[in-house]
Amino acid sequence: MYVNFRPTEAPHTERKDLHNIKRMLPFLWSYRGRVLFALLSLMLAKFATVGVPLVLKEIVDQLDLVLKNPQSIGMVLPLGLLLGYGSLRLVNVMFSELRDAVFARVRYRAMRDISTKVVKHLYDLSLNFHLDRRTGGISRDLERGTRSLSSILNYLTFNIIPTLIEFALVAIILFSQYDPHFALITFGTVTIYIIYTMAVTEWRMHFRHEMNAYDSRASSQAVDGLINYETVKYFNNEHYEINRYNETLSQWEDSAVKSTSSMALLNFGQGAIIALGVMVIMIYAAQGVLDGDMSLGDLVLVNAMMLQLFIPLGFLGIIYRSMKHAMADMDLMFKLLDTQPEIQDSDQAKPLVVTDAVVKFDHVDFSYHADRQILHDVSLIIPSGQKIAVVGPSGAGKSTLARLLFRFYDVTGGSITVDDQDLRQVSQVSLREAIGIVPQDTVLFNDTIYHNIQYAHPTATDEDVRQAARLANIHQFIEQLPDGYDTVVGERGLKLSGGEKQRVAIARVILKNPRILVFDEATSSLDSHSEQVILASLKEVAEQHTTLVIAHRLSTIVDADQILVMDQGRIVEQGTHQQLIESKGVYANLWEIQKEQQAEEE
Ligand SMILES: Nc1ncnc2c1ncn2[C@@H]1O[C@H](COP(=O)(O)OP(=O)(O)O)[C@@H](O)[C@H]1O
Ligand SMILES: [Mg+2]
Repeated sequence: MYVNFRPTEAPHTERKDLHNIKRMLPFLWSYRGRVLFALLSLMLAKFATVGVPLVLKEIVDQLDLVLKNPQSIGMVLPLGLLLGYGSLRLVNVMFSELRDAVFARVRYRAMRDISTKVVKHLYDLSLNFHLDRRTGGISRDLERGTRSLSSILNYLTFNIIPTLIEFALVAIILFSQYDPHFALITFGTVTIYIIYTMAVTEWRMHFRHEMNAYDSRASSQAVDGLINYETVKYFNNEHYEINRYNETLSQWEDSAVKSTSSMALLNFGQGAIIALGVMVIMIYAAQGVLDGDMSLGDLVLVNAMMLQLFIPLGFLGIIYRSMKHAMADMDLMFKLLDTQPEIQDSDQAKPLVVTDAVVKFDHVDFSYHADRQILHDVSLIIPSGQKIAVVGPSGAGKSTLARLLFRFYDVTGGSITVDDQDLRQVSQVSLREAIGIVPQDTVLFNDTIYHNIQYAHPTATDEDVRQAARLANIHQFIEQLPDGYDTVVGERGLKLSGGEKQRVAIARVILKNPRILVFDEATSSLDSHSEQVILASLKEVAEQHTTLVIAHRLSTIVDADQILVMDQGRIVEQGTHQQLIESKGVYANLWEIQKEQQAEEE
């Protein structure tokens, strides 16, 4: 069985980590004062940290001196030094906390800015991009991306930079004050410690990834099964689902155990290296004291300094792993930001000026993917205020016409114009402003019915919303619901029937009141009776509007000014209802069939 590793485990080489970190900087720039202040606090805190062993040494030496010559000096406490010792610890804590507090704003603002930027970019990207990706995947990348930004900032300011500063200070003290052995042993131990930690972490990261992969697979199996609850029950497949879930969990369990036990190994190894290093340095220091080269205070100092150095290194394994992930996540996020929308406003894009609202498809060819052409040489004109109907079998390319008119895609051949303005030359916002659609599959926001209708026109008044609902023949239905207009429609609008959803969509379009209307099988989910009622109101709405009606039930479009019959991406017949019946072609055939069906129904 294959394990679907997270994309974050992409090889390190493909990424541009340094470049990505540079791209992060502008997000910090707006708060450069705070950043500087935080860095300053960080330096001061570190000076205090390194000062502690120095003062400790002085205290020990003073006490030693006092004990050796009690008569001449007198048994007094080195109060000044003790006070200094305490103050240094206080200063350390104070500046560390100050740094956190000051930096918090920077960090969260950077997260907010980048999240907004990514989401805006996602809206700019084309429909094609979104159809190709699962929304869950996108929101995961977004979340991980912003979190990575935060963790990288965190680790840099709270761990990596302070530790480097501390190393530098300790190196200066050891090299200037003591035998080079001490510095060599200290940094030798640190080096071994770092190499060991990275190597073991690298090795055990594999278990961790495996564990995460199984974990997300298990949860997606559980969620997928539960989402399809009804289907699972229809087929009595509970056991199958549970077994699958349990099997994945058992693999998860194995990886989790390996991950934890390898962690124990890592910790033990780290402890052993420190113990060994400290022992060696103590042997040298003790020898130095016996030889008279060093005081007792010096021994305390090298010991304290070395142990202190390892405190931040204790998190090295976690930081190494998190930084690697964060870098990968950030890379994914920046790659997402670099994705160019396929559909963009041209540089000279002007707002669409609608005068007569004449829509024209001129020899349009189109394919979603290069290897399969969907539309072939489609030409049609919807004259101002007229109603053109398109009929044809499922998959003929009817809905594609509507998507092209909205410019979700660009035509591959020919052109589409509104009042002689090519869609590619006008701004997308102005184009979509001018067109309203009742789509084939209406999806609603999981909010109130009121919100869903008002969505077309967020500043519409209560009365406007109700009037639109009345015209769409759904007002009565809404009024008799216990919560009325405040009824929440459920995820994707699932708590409403298909027909109810379609009527909400119709109400929406009525409220938007654009010059050009598209009804894509707008009444397909309605029974004949509701259909007739709505058709009447649609007719009222469509009056004075240029209208494209895509229909499957021919009875709904007999009054159209022109009817186009589409098949396999081509217009095969064209004329008024009467003309098409008389020419006895595809349309006449369909008409006969549907008439018989209707007769049977009745
Ligand atoms: N995003 C897409 N990518 C690839 N093919 C698509 C896409 N959307 C629709 N198609 C294909 O285009 C053809 C026409 O689809 P459509 O216009 O929805 O037909 P209909 O006439 O039923 O409304 C269908 O064969 C469909 O499979
Ligand atoms: Mg369709």
